[in-house]
Amino acid sequence: MTHNVSLRPYNTFGVEATAAAFVEVASVDELRAALRQATRPVLVLGGGSNILFTQDWPGTVVRNRIRGIEVVRRFPHRLWVRAGGGEVWHDLVLWAVRQGLGGIENLSLIPGSVGAAPVQNIGAYGVELKDVFVSLEAVELATGHLRRFTRRECRFGYRDSIFKQHEKGRWCITAVTLSLTTDRHRLNTSYGDVARTLASMGVAHPTPADISEAVVRIRQTKLPDPAIIGNCGSFFKNPEVGPEVWENIRQQYPNAPHYPLPNGHIKVPAGWLIEQCGWKGRRVGNVGCYEKQSLVLVNHGGATGQEAYALAQAIAHSVAERFGIALEPEVNVL
Ligand code: EPU
Repeated sequence: MTHNVSLRPYNTFGVEATAAAFVEVASVDELRAALRQATRPVLVLGGGSNILFTQDWPGTVVRNRIRGIEVVRRFPHRLWVRAGGGEVWHDLVLWAVRQGLGGIENLSLIPGSVGAAPVQNIGAYGVELKDVFVSLEAVELATGHLRRFTRRECRFGYRDSIFKQHEKGRWCITAVTLSLTTDRHRLNTSYGDVARTLASMGVAHPTPADISEAVVRIRQTKLPDPAIIGNCGSFFKNPEVGPEVWENIRQQYPNAPHYPLPNGHIKVPAGWLIEQCGWKGRRVGNVGCYEKQSLVLVNHGGATGQEAYALAQAIAHSVAERFGIALEPEVNVL
């Protein structure tokens, strides 16, 4: 356990914040030992890619470094893979596609750790973590007890789970088990960008590895690499609006992108709403709205968390004024 540690290297937005205490754990036993000594409140950090610090952390930050990827069960056309919560998510994707396994190729290059993936039910290009999820193991921060959560118990929703709701801040996810296909893959190439990129690669019958490659290419052209320009991916969720709100938008913008949902609501891309309000590529001090994807806020260097949060609020305010839609942050703002 070390004290007064800068969290700047541990958050991909690259803002300065200090943890009163900081510890890295590589096993469940180390985690339990750390929790026994930790000053409260405890914050578990994975890759730090979905978090914005707007102030110092008064207690202990525990960085999850629990590694390991293993096949735990085999079935005729699929198998279960269990990965440590501290593994890098994209390393798990690469491991899977190299073995010819299917199921998470569309989730390539999503920054962050395996343990953070279920918290917000990561998703991209038509696939969500919940589609392949079997169960997770987590240690309760207050007691050190290890518990298993099934898929049903996690109550996954769009970028949502119980770990963002009433169980928020109470657990450290130490392992995640996924069900991946060994053959007869259920590939998802329905997303326009994916289909176009595969075509440009000259691939007619894609393997999971081809799809992974296509998704990596798409993400690299649209999204900033946090190692080069600080960001935490999509800052807001894509809002779901009722038919009346949508009708208003449609009358003004007949070509507005939108996705009808089974419940009669309409999902409108937040990036589009933000662009209509004139924010795309705009810079305010050290922060800005990314030039190729308005949903991503970026650190142009030396930004503070408050500065980034102020920009997020200004953006949300203009979207509310113009469209009557309240944007909700996807990122965990602390
Ligand atoms: N759009 C604009 N202007 C912009 C950005 C987007 O007009 O500046 C419009 C375009 O019409 C585009 C549509 O919005 O067709 C959707 O944009 P995009 O395909 O980039 O996806 P998104 O809805 O903005 C979501 C996820 C991403 C994920 C992509 C691909 C959320 C909050 N974000 O973004 O996830 O990679 O779909 O599936 O659901 C993340 O969560 O951090 C993330 C990057």
